[in-house]
Amino acid sequence: MRTMDLDDVDDMEDGVREGAGPDLLTDPGWRVPPVPEDVPEGTMAWLRARVARFSSGEAHARRRSLATGALGALGVSDGPDVNAEALRDAARVRTQELLSAPGTVEVMARVARVVPAEVLAASLGLPVTADTAGLVGEVASAYHAHGETVPAADRALTRLVADCGGTWDEATAARIGLLVQAYDATAGLIGNAAYLALTGAEAGAGTGTGHAPEPPPEPSADLATDRLDQALRTDPPVRGTLRAPVDGGDPVRVGLVTSDGSLAFGAGAHACPGQAHARALAAGALDALLARGCRLVHPDIAYEPSVNLRVPAALEVVCG
Ligand code: HEM
Repeated sequence: MRTMDLDDVDDMEDGVREGAGPDLLTDPGWRVPPVPEDVPEGTMAWLRARVARFSSGEAHARRRSLATGALGALGVSDGPDVNAEALRDAARVRTQELLSAPGTVEVMARVARVVPAEVLAASLGLPVTADTAGLVGEVASAYHAHGETVPAADRALTRLVADCGGTWDEATAARIGLLVQAYDATAGLIGNAAYLALTGAEAGAGTGTGHAPEPPPEPSADLATDRLDQALRTDPPVRGTLRAPVDGGDPVRVGLVTSDGSLAFGAGAHACPGQAHARALAAGALDALLARGCRLVHPDIAYEPSVNLRVPAALEVVCG
């Protein structure tokens, strides 16, 4: 496994050094950059201070187990996973509904940023309404905006906390944290895999990551899973994450793009606990796109401006 340099550092934060190796993810001398803990309820700072994602040590272990407990284990048995299949089916059915609108459909806004949020919210026991995905998106857009106040995100968070029963505690933060972590990353996974499926393009083209051209994969009976595997290997949606020295000092960016995709879901104590869920949700969305015979309207696409994410800004398709 060889890590690649990130090439799109145009919105790089001050003081962040580029290009640290993945060993930092398992090095006890490094941790996720800490966030202020003594912050008021009703704010995004409260969410950051209560989720596993920005925690270390004992608090991280406690908050992570709240998240994994709420998520439920998938892929732990050798046989077919009933729960993963149920998530995939729910995502497929919801995507089919959304694709049945007449005319062109913008897959990122209408499917990739809606279906995972709705299906995951339902599986976590939250009420799902026409507002749910938008609220999660509002919170997700401010999740990494440390130190900033974003009133619309604070209001959306307050509504999601109400949907969770109205208690501002760590169990509530864990459920909302799952939805927020899933939001951009799973949209990116769907978008990047859909782009591959709809163009047959060589993944990673134009990213400057230095990938060797992939030989065409052996087709299997599960085209959606083939495309997801290919996207995770060659065009993963999460490209980097920050770590800071435990004894203080500036954060560095750890690149997650590798020659074999082995870091697409991270590594170490913070490795993604939603991997199997993300794959199931994305597979269901792709199943529906493939079954409808959708075609891309504009093969040249743009990506969201982000250092750490690679998410198509828009993917317009016509189906049927
Ligand atoms: C159902 C969808 C998903 C859920 C529920 C989910 C949930 C989470 C959670 C809760 C964490 C924080 C864990 C911790 O700090 O202990 C996390 C981390 C992570 N997730 Fe996911 N995730 C999802 C989809 C994805 C996807 C599609 C990707 C990329 C392919 C991804 C990549 C990552 C990475 C790289 C980390 C580690 C970040 C770091 O170490 O700083 N996730 N995820």
